[in-house]
Amino acid sequence: MIIAGNLKCNHTRASFQNYAMALNDGLRDICHNFTLLDNIQNFNSNKANFNSIIVFPPSVAFVEASACKYFSQGAQNFYPCDSGSFTGEVGANMLDEFGVNVVLIGHSERRGLGENDELIKAKFNFAKQKGYKIIFCVGEDDITYMNASAKEFLSDELSGIDLNYEKLIIAYEPIFAIGTGVSAKTQYIAEILEYLRSLSNAPLLYGGSVNCQNINEISSLKHCDGVLVGSASWDVQNFINLINIATKDQK
Ligand code: 13P
Repeated sequence: MIIAGNLKCNHTRASFQNYAMALNDGLRDICHNFTLLDNIQNFNSNKANFNSIIVFPPSVAFVEASACKYFSQGAQNFYPCDSGSFTGEVGANMLDEFGVNVVLIGHSERRGLGENDELIKAKFNFAKQKGYKIIFCVGEDDITYMNASAKEFLSDELSGIDLNYEKLIIAYEPIFAIGTGVSAKTQYIAEILEYLRSLSNAPLLYGGSVNCQNINEISSLKHCDGVLVGSASWDVQNFINLINIATKDQK
């Protein structure tokens, strides 16, 4: 199972250093063989034993690669360049310094801030050319949901990206379930994941108000390969607890 924590605009460099240390300790005590995401190509052949944890801190809070013992550190955002005159942006040279080779692309919160399809596609192609692992986020808003046109919407969001990229992970995050404390209904998640599975063999995550109470029901869905957790990952002990609950049957 892939369990990713999106810290969004939370945690400073100092607090994330403590977070990373506590997460390493917690994962060591949980005692699974947590696989670093570097081996994602093996996911489909070894799903039952593949447990990988990824955390996306703010870029200014990245820790040294050596501080990520049992988890991978990813970038919430980057600009498709190595470096250059792009005020305020973070390029690949800056990610490389921290050994970051997992990136989030297409999150609805970034789309909401003005990232359009053209930029998202450019980011995808750049990350692919770099060989980064990509968690590509898709998800409909509540009006699309109520109009029962989510599938067309999701297929549009996925058009123009290489769905066969071997380091692709797709995260389904319905916007109406993000940050509300109420996840989408499991039957509905199951239906959408089945649809996404018909489009791609990439591992499929669900995100949107995942917490310690609903993680098992969601992660046991047939096509669910993991979760992308927001607020329930911000407190490291809560995140460790969630990981423990999600993986305890494998002990
Ligand atoms: P919440 O878990 O807070 O709903 O956030 C989900 C999310 O946006 C993860 O990327």
